[in-house]
Amino acid sequence: MKKDFINVEDFTAEDLEKLVYLIQVVKKAGKERALPNLLYKASIAMFFEEPSTRTRTSFEVAATLLGGHALYMRPGDVHLGKSESLYDTANVLSRMVNGIVIRAKRYQEIADLARYASVPVINAMSDDTNHPTQVLCDVFTIFEQTGKIKGNTIAFIGDSSGGSAANVCRDLMRISSILGINFNLISPEGYQPDEKFIDHVKEIAQKSGANIFITDDPIEGVRNADFIYTDEFVWYDMSPEEKEKRERIFKPKYQVNTELLSHAPSHVKFMHCLPAKRGEEVTDEVMDGPHSIIFEQAENRLHTQVALLTAFVYPRLKDNPVFADRDNPYKTTIKAIVSELYK
Ligand code: CP
Repeated sequence: MKKDFINVEDFTAEDLEKLVYLIQVVKKAGKERALPNLLYKASIAMFFEEPSTRTRTSFEVAATLLGGHALYMRPGDVHLGKSESLYDTANVLSRMVNGIVIRAKRYQEIADLARYASVPVINAMSDDTNHPTQVLCDVFTIFEQTGKIKGNTIAFIGDSSGGSAANVCRDLMRISSILGINFNLISPEGYQPDEKFIDHVKEIAQKSGANIFITDDPIEGVRNADFIYTDEFVWYDMSPEEKEKRERIFKPKYQVNTELLSHAPSHVKFMHCLPAKRGEEVTDEVMDGPHSIIFEQAENRLHTQVALLTAFVYPRLKDNPVFADRDNPYKTTIKAIVSELYK
């Protein structure tokens, strides 16, 4: 049976922890140039309805590192959703490639594609709801920094009201609540999530023991933070009026700057999914300062995609006898972790 990776809520805490462990293993193997050719002669279709630097590059490189190949497709290049139904495209692609990576404006499009395709589908961000590959990478980055997952505290500062403002923030809340990571959400009034979403996350958190704390006070919100995380609050396609309004609300009170960091514990680390608007949600001093782990975090996108292609695409492929990698010391460990996910 195929498994898709389109929503972190489809997975248990144990499954997500296994994926984090898998990222750790493939990162070590990758650093030693010892990754097995698990995707030998396999192809991955990558459809990006929106621009991407990190997600697109990391998936393409990951496919190559595993001995496979990825095709990058933009809306103007293929028929998807315009001159061909999603159902037909999904069926055609399923007969030509071994997995599909898709970034779309709407989650429903990704969910429908996953339903129609007979090959695994990976959500490379749906603008309106979630960004599961990003937040899995973030949890791995946190694990790498502290040696644990449960019990860390993330303080997210910014717009969490919904839509493209909050696909990362809200998905971080979802995965944190599943895994027992405490979450302080710091957003100005009017830019916080709706009650329904907060109740939903708090309900998930009851099982893991994660503490979900919502405030409009940045100083209170970062006081016990192990990680401060932010994302853009203005976008390139926003009207000048809306941009000006948001700048008045968010700056400097909801900007991550050295003043705000002075209220956090001295060990606090700064994270950002990138791209960042330097001088808006975060200053250069913080981006390039001693607390920042943004580029380690960005690099981990690559190791995360290697793990995801391994976990979701590799199990459906036949091992090639020529490239069986029998002597590869990592292959047995990787296969063992992946088989646990399919029990
Ligand atoms: N963080 C992230 O998804 O970056 P890209 O938009 O560059 O892929």
